[in-house]
Amino acid sequence: MILSPSILSADFGILAEQVREVEEAGAEWLHIDVMDGHFVPNMSFAMPVIKSLRKYTSLFFDVHLMIERPKVYIERFIESGADGITFHAEATDKIDECIDMIRKRGKSVGISICPETPLSVIDDYLDKVDMALLMTVHPGYGGQKYITEVNSKIRELRAKMGDDFKIQVDGGVTEENLDDILEAGANVIVAGTAVFNGDITGSVKRLMNR
Ligand code: DX5
Ligand code: ZN
Repeated sequence: MILSPSILSADFGILAEQVREVEEAGAEWLHIDVMDGHFVPNMSFAMPVIKSLRKYTSLFFDVHLMIERPKVYIERFIESGADGITFHAEATDKIDECIDMIRKRGKSVGISICPETPLSVIDDYLDKVDMALLMTVHPGYGGQKYITEVNSKIRELRAKMGDDFKIQVDGGVTEENLDDILEAGANVIVAGTAVFNGDITGSVKRLMNR
């Protein structure tokens, strides 16, 4: 499994330092949550933060766009240093164009759906993407409770796509529920509060040693 620590729960005053700690503890990905105050009822940060952080780490930048009209901004996120871009199927009617844009720049393509959105919405695109992100909380905030009903979608998608496909879960992952999530078939795990909780090194190591 791949662990993708979400910096949404980091201390932004010492962000580079905390990201280095995540990297030294053994993580290979970094989950970067971009929120626009429209697609989700909250705002976070965008290109300048990603660009600055790029200088301090070689972690895979897993950029999760919780924004409307993602196509308008994809190019700029790639220029800022994204290695993979995940956009929401609910946020655009130009899904194919978004996929092509990310693919043409040689970056990894992810498509995401909210907890209540059925898998059928992304069915037609699964063969064209590298990863599907099944949200396990309502996007917008860290520290929410994992919605266990999503596990049946994880199972269904794993059965359909086979072992190699990346199924990412995001929201409410803890050291306690991680085994059930992996058993359901997720293989890319986002964790925010479970990592940036005071003991970054210990948390990363415990989450990765499954
Ligand atoms: C929520 C974000 C998540 C968030 C997860 O909208 O997409 O990535 O940081 O935080 P935790 O792990 O605390 O639920
Ligand atoms: Zn996220």
